[in-house]
Amino acid sequence: MTAIHPLPRRGRFSAGTLLGLSLLLGSVQAPAQETGSVTAGREASQACAACHGEKGNSNSPAFPSIAGQPSAYLANQLRAYRDSTRENAIMNGQAANLSEQDILDLAAFYAAQERKVANPATTDLDEGRVLYHHGREGLAACAACHGAEGRGNQPAGFPALRGLTAPYTAQSLRDYRSESRQGGQAALMHPLAAELGDEEIDALATHIATFD
Ligand code: HEC
Ligand code: HEC
Repeated sequence: MTAIHPLPRRGRFSAGTLLGLSLLLGSVQAPAQETGSVTAGREASQACAACHGEKGNSNSPAFPSIAGQPSAYLANQLRAYRDSTRENAIMNGQAANLSEQDILDLAAFYAAQERKVANPATTDLDEGRVLYHHGREGLAACAACHGAEGRGNQPAGFPALRGLTAPYTAQSLRDYRSESRQGGQAALMHPLAAELGDEEIDALATHIATFD
C-alpha cells in the first residue's frame, strides 16, 4: 500500500477556522458594562501600587503591568482571582475581599492610565514573529485580536500584550492550554493555546516581549 501524503495547506485561516472563531466569539459573553469610578479606584489602588507600580506600570518583571488594559478585561481578571477560577496565590489573596464596586472602580482607574513599556526585550525569534503575525494552519494570527503592535482591542476587551515579560506570557499561555486559567473571556484563548507546542509558546513569548 502506498501512503498518500497530502501537501500541508499553508493558508493563514481555513474557512473552518474562521467559522469556528466566529461561532466562538458569538458564544462568549460580551464584556460587561462598567460603571466604575476612577477617583474611587485611585484610592483603592494604594493597596496594589507596591507590586503593580503607582499607575499600573510595574517596575519589576515579577509583576505584570496592568495600566491601559480594557476595563472589562481588568474587571474579569479580578473576579477570576476572587473566585479562584484564575489561580495565583498572591492575587487570589489580594482579590478575595474585593466587592463588585471595588472591582469596577479599580478596573476604571487602571484602564484610564497610560501603558508604558520601560525595557522592551532586544532578542527576537523569527518563529515567534511569524506565528504572531500570520498564524499557521489551525492557529489564528495573534495580531488579529491583540493587534500588530500588541496594543489589544479596547472595545472588544482584548488585552494589550506589549509590556508583558516573556516568562509571564509563557506561563499565561501554558495556563490557557491546561485550562487552569478560566473566567473572563478565557474560552477564546483555550482552543488557540491548545494548538501550541512548548517551543512555539516560548518563541511567541520572546517575540511579544520585544513590543515597545
Ligand atoms: C504582592 C504583590 C501584588 C499586589 C499587592 C497586587 N498584585 Fe496583582 N498581580 C501580582 C502578580 C504576581 C500577578 C500575576 C499573577 C498571575 O500570574 O496570575 C498579578 C496579576 C494581576 C492582574 C492580572 C494582569 C493580567 O495581565 O492579566 C491584575 C488585573 C491585578 N494583578 C490587579 C491587582 C489589583 C487591582 C491589586 C490591588 C487590589 C493587585 N493586583 C495587588 C502581584 C500583586
Ligand atoms: C480571537 C481573538 C484572540 C486571538 C486570535 C488570540 N487571543 Fe490572546 N486573548 C484573547 C482574549 C479575549 C484574552 C483575554 C482572555 C481572558 O479573559 O482571560 C486573551 C488573553 C491573552 C493573554 C493573557 C494576557 C495577560 O495580560 O494575562 C496572552 C498572553 C495572549 N492572549 C496571547 C495570545 C497569543 C500568543 C495569541 C496567538 C497564538 C493569541 N493570544 C491569540 C483573544 C485572542
